Amino acid sequence: MSKIWVGTNWKMTKTIAEGISYTKELKQIANELTSTIELFIIPSHTALVDIKKEVSDSRIKLGAQNMHWEDTGAYTGEISPKMLDEIGLDLVELGHSERRQYYNETDAEINKKVRAALKYGMKPLVCIGENIDQKNNEISQEVLAAQLKVCLKGLSGDQVKQVLVAYEPVWAIGENGIPADAEYVGEIHTFLRRTLIEMYPNIGHEIPLLYGGSVNLDNFLPYIDQKDVNGLFVGRTAWNMETFTILLKELEKHISE
Ligand code: 13P
Repeated sequence: MSKIWVGTNWKMTKTIAEGISYTKELKQIANELTSTIELFIIPSHTALVDIKKEVSDSRIKLGAQNMHWEDTGAYTGEISPKMLDEIGLDLVELGHSERRQYYNETDAEINKKVRAALKYGMKPLVCIGENIDQKNNEISQEVLAAQLKVCLKGLSGDQVKQVLVAYEPVWAIGENGIPADAEYVGEIHTFLRRTLIEMYPNIGHEIPLLYGGSVNLDNFLPYIDQKDVNGLFVGRTAWNMETFTILLKELEKHISE
């Protein structure tokens, strides 16, 4: 698998104006990249229409942070896949740990969202991760396998080819997160790869496995060097264009060496 996926979830951090100016800058950096990095950004819903105009003449892929699974209905405050399809997105992030933690999203609901995304030709970026209690009780692998199996339940091989998986340990995410050891990340990704191959013997090896959770300038290279890490899903380090530019340029240099 030669492509490396690198993207950022902006969470609830950028206004439309801030998002547009960020995207204009990122486009310039993206133009200078020659490698096989697949670059994506995931703004807030309010900014998607404007940012779609910005990215349409660039290599930057665009995604949404969440959506409902129904096309239409009485679901106050929700956004449907049909609505996102109108904007024309490449991907949709589903099941981020903050959605699971604060809005009680379940694997079964994420599975419905994954199917809805596929119906509209958007790549589901499925986030999975264990919490600190599960890690300390040494059941990370069981938890992750269960999340993966339920989130992808019922998908055909052709469908699962469109899926991206992000492993994001809950304890490693955000301001209070503790960056994971690269070796631990490597072991978990190899386990996830094995699980995907068991589930989909013909294409399990093709599904991109991204790593996320306190990715920063000190640790991104050791993470990407792990055999089964096919990309990075970055929060804070990518929200700042200066640090994100360094990350992208160093990564490109590293992978072309
Ligand atoms: P941080 O890189 O800020 O820890 O956020 C990671 C994340 O949640 C990406 O979805």
